[in-house]
Amino acid sequence: MATLAIYPGSFDPLTNGHVDIISRGARLFDRIVVAILKNAEKAPLFTMEERVEIARSVFRHHPNVEVDTFDGLLVDYVERRKAQVIVRGLRAVSDFEFEFQMALMNRRLSPELEVLFLVPSAQYTFLNSTLVKEIARLGGDIGGLLPPLVERRLLSRFAEERARAGDKG
Ligand code: PNS
Repeated sequence: MATLAIYPGSFDPLTNGHVDIISRGARLFDRIVVAILKNAEKAPLFTMEERVEIARSVFRHHPNVEVDTFDGLLVDYVERRKAQVIVRGLRAVSDFEFEFQMALMNRRLSPELEVLFLVPSAQYTFLNSTLVKEIARLGGDIGGLLPPLVERRLLSRFAEERARAGDKG
């Protein structure tokens, strides 16, 4: 039977750490779905449509990587898709406690489910979307942390923000 894995998250924005995990998953499973949670944050930097478009564009040459959205419980989505595995990245010990709670809670909701943790390349163990957004907003160097397309869009988003703030004086 073909193995379908779901890699859920907010992906606001997609970082090279995510890309690393998705690429590993694409080698391990027949198909991996990047499942973007709708309404995860009240004020995301990128809209749902933008996040979908970005992920599709980054993985356009990977036929076994699919990009989809979901809302409601993750286990319900996994069941609907008839997937066998949820993939999550584990960067550091600090991730472990919350990831462990989520994995066990998801298993309680859906006992057949397997959650598999993949470890990203060491260079991405400190990387998360929130920090990258903050550094970019404050004008710091984010080179090498994001796929080039995402970096360009993030920088232009903040340039627009600064221009608007400048207009207001
Ligand atoms: O990118 P994130 O914020 O780390 O992703 C978190 C995500 C989307 C995996 C988690 O918030 C989630 O699964 N949300 C869906 C709602 C749900 O099922 N909640 C119960 C989790 S035990």
